[in-house]
Amino acid sequence: MIRLDKFLAQADVAGRKKARILIANGEIKVNGEVQLDPAAEIEEEKDLVVYQGRQLASAKTVHYMFHKPSGCITAKSDLQHKTVFEYFKEEDRCGVFPVGRLDKDTEGLLLFTNDGKFEHALMHPTKHVDKTYYFWALGCIDEEKHKIIESGVDIGDETLTLPAKLKIEGSYLLTDLKQQYSYDFLKREQFKKDQMVTCGYLTISEGRKHQVKRMLKSIGCFVIYLKRIQIGGLKLDETLPVGEYRALSEEEIKQLFE
Ligand code: URA
Repeated sequence: MIRLDKFLAQADVAGRKKARILIANGEIKVNGEVQLDPAAEIEEEKDLVVYQGRQLASAKTVHYMFHKPSGCITAKSDLQHKTVFEYFKEEDRCGVFPVGRLDKDTEGLLLFTNDGKFEHALMHPTKHVDKTYYFWALGCIDEEKHKIIESGVDIGDETLTLPAKLKIEGSYLLTDLKQQYSYDFLKREQFKKDQMVTCGYLTISEGRKHQVKRMLKSIGCFVIYLKRIQIGGLKLDETLPVGEYRALSEEEIKQLFE
């Protein structure tokens, strides 16, 4: 059970204060009847709450795993680019927001929820939840650079990055990767000349802007491909097609905090 004004706030109709005004103005119907009491108790799974003729999504908390494609931005709306919300069905979008953000050209695991506490537990800077990224970067990473990345680097912020974990998968010639993979980004003009590409995994426990790219740049490497593959103990479900989403199971929610 949840108070009507809180239900409206969680369903993203308005903040608690404005919700109380809407209720007082007789704009909210519960099970077909105008409800004027902001403290009226709503049974989320059962009661039908309607505002401006629209049935509001239940305030039940939802948690989704989204397999973000490259090329869309983590924003509610944008005049130029496709947004992550455009991949969600109308009925699943209401009140839902992304947990953190990924750059336009980053793909992989992005969580969505309508639960502020869930977001806080994962994203607040004091929580230090691990996030693992798979990357391809132009340049080489020797022993010394490896150590620097893991112990903390200066990326132009007030403080060094926190200790991180770097695992190198291998170093390859760009021409060899081009023969093996047909990714569009490999066709870019800037990748015409041959160079070394280092592929690997970087695990960080912070969420600074463009952090992985900036960390690798600080040791002379330029990220050309980036994919988030894990948050906490939860791995991206690789059977989930790119551009699709699904609800997290209870077990998966637990894994996030492991
Ligand atoms: N680090 C980045 O540089 N970009 C992302 O999208 C996520 C982490």
